[in-house]
Amino acid sequence: MSPRVRRLALPLAAFLASVILVGVAVLALIGRPEAPAGSSVGGPFALTAQDGRTVTEADLRGAPFLVFFGFTHCPDVCPTTLFEASEVLRAAGPEGDRLRVLFITVDPERDTPEVLKSYLASFDPRITGLTGSPEAIAGVLKAYKVYARKVPTSDGDYTMDHTAMVYLMDSRGAFVNGFDLKRPPDVAARDLLRFL
Ligand code: NI
Repeated sequence: MSPRVRRLALPLAAFLASVILVGVAVLALIGRPEAPAGSSVGGPFALTAQDGRTVTEADLRGAPFLVFFGFTHCPDVCPTTLFEASEVLRAAGPEGDRLRVLFITVDPERDTPEVLKSYLASFDPRITGLTGSPEAIAGVLKAYKVYARKVPTSDGDYTMDHTAMVYLMDSRGAFVNGFDLKRPPDVAARDLLRFL
């Protein structure tokens, strides 16, 4: 090694080591599942469905289900998600009779069971709308690590900012992963049916 090369060798080695470290860190982040095994997403709840029934997490045991959070006044994301979920359920056909989708409101103030009922009438009947007291809703939001915030609008009304993730829960009620509804319905349906 010439002295010049030797002078450069140490900084170069340090530079390469840092590049490798950053690469490893980036790969670790990309490869990380949305919730690592043993993470506590989900949990017990008791909420009211659009038909007035009380639904708890225990009622859902025995079949996989999707959960997402939203509100009936939502201008775009929620109706789109409900439409996509309906398409996936339709694609699953009779084989997917036991599949359920939960639409839990982040706006219990306006989303009464009656409001949920008329709103959900245009979607698949396997979609259950759930509401409850502000405390019950706050509890389930916390359990699913969902962010929701009231945002006042200029007309004195309000809208809600909220997490748009769709959660796939297995037949034991354990969180599996985020579920991608932005796929052809038959592809998403096949993916969901694997968990039956
Ligand atoms: Ni929404």
